[in-house]
Amino acid sequence: MSTLIKGGTVVNATGAVTADVLVDGEKIAALLAPGFPVAADDTIDATGKYVIPGGIDAHTHMEMPFGGTFSADSFETGTIAAAWGGTTTIIDFAVQAKGTSLLSTLDKWHGKADGNCAVDYGFHMIVSDVNDTSLKEMESCIGAGVNTFKMFMAYPGVFYATDGEILRAMQKARETGATIMMHAENGIAIDQLVAQALAQGRTDPVEHGLTRPAELEGEATSRAITLAKVTGSPLYIVHLSAAQALDAVTKARDTGQNVFAETCPQYLYLSLEDLAKPDFEGSKYVASPPLRPKEHQSELWRGLRTNDLSVVSTDHCPFCFKDQKELGRGDFSKIPNGMPGVEHRMDLLHQGVVAGEIGLERWVEICSTTPARMFGLHPRKGVIAPGADADVVVYDPSATQVISAATHHMNVDYSAYEGMEITGKVDTVLSRGRVVVDSGGFHGSTGHGRFLSRELNQYLV
Ligand code: URP
Ligand code: ZN
Ligand code: ZN
Ligand code: ZN
Repeated sequence: MSTLIKGGTVVNATGAVTADVLVDGEKIAALLAPGFPVAADDTIDATGKYVIPGGIDAHTHMEMPFGGTFSADSFETGTIAAAWGGTTTIIDFAVQAKGTSLLSTLDKWHGKADGNCAVDYGFHMIVSDVNDTSLKEMESCIGAGVNTFKMFMAYPGVFYATDGEILRAMQKARETGATIMMHAENGIAIDQLVAQALAQGRTDPVEHGLTRPAELEGEATSRAITLAKVTGSPLYIVHLSAAQALDAVTKARDTGQNVFAETCPQYLYLSLEDLAKPDFEGSKYVASPPLRPKEHQSELWRGLRTNDLSVVSTDHCPFCFKDQKELGRGDFSKIPNGMPGVEHRMDLLHQGVVAGEIGLERWVEICSTTPARMFGLHPRKGVIAPGADADVVVYDPSATQVISAATHHMNVDYSAYEGMEITGKVDTVLSRGRVVVDSGGFHGSTGHGRFLSRELNQYLV
């Protein structure tokens, strides 16, 4: 089965060129001069459109246990929604429960995902129990294609790791070539602020933001960077939201330290004002780190331009407003943390191109090419080039759409971006050569997505 994608502008991180793209089986076979005569079983007209590598969302949580419930998207519904939005790879987090092993955790997550994904997927491992056994097991995880380990400086009593535990995991990362991913918020201090707020009767969703000040993200980020420096481990800061944290990352990178960071669309477009919406509406925007005052947004865009922020992921972790966010009515600390977004990352970041915040190639780089390199998937993913997987999105930059829960495909009863007008729209999506989305709808299947055993990160500052 071969497909010719004709007449489009092929956009890679390295530049844009008018070319036809020949797909043969699951791979990209050639980039051809426009109109170059070649036989193909199928043709897709991409005239006036961009032809880009499929999006890679390196931070999702499908079916994640949290706060007595599970995030609302299964691997099936979540990867179908991803495909609709032009994301053809997700990297989700397997979550070690305290007292269990990393390898049994990995088995459990394979049990959830294998055979159920519409697009390709990989795993990171959340390490919540640092001991001799789990440190040793990190090696087996790496052998099983999972070489990125997330740790938490937040959530004492749940996922929280002490500085000593983080140090030990970083030493292991240094020894093995793994990367430590860090949720950097000072959870010990935050827990005190939360207890004080509740004791004063401050229970609304906005308190989630007020009890997690940006300074405590900045402090934790600096501390993580210091521990990484002492151990020589590379470090990837997840879901960076605050200017103070970005400053710490920028300083470290300026000295040549291998520190990287991602931000998420919600921190670029939403703010503390959303968390303050009345009638418990604010609960829709509860995620950690919290949405920040608007002033942080321009700093994050600057970070994306300077590459101090290298990746945009969604941290997709949906909880329904009606029956899940509800758990925290009367006590903001019980609102399940997380927001939906896997379907809209490519569109939302395209607004950055439209607004002149980032260039076209940078859009592709932060949404696809860098995540591929950072997480050991390049050059198989993240590039339109011969030999790469034919994960291809035909994107119409002039179409318009309005984001709404009434039309999205995520299994959640609200949109954080309800009513937002978007310039640009996914037209056609190929996953490993197969058309999974086009104007006729979703044509994929949930058995199509394959587990991606990832190489070690070779990506340096
Ligand atoms: O609030 C969030 N971000 N929920 C998902 C878990 C995490 O910390 O990434
Ligand atoms: Zn986190
Ligand atoms: Zn997350
Ligand atoms: Zn529900």
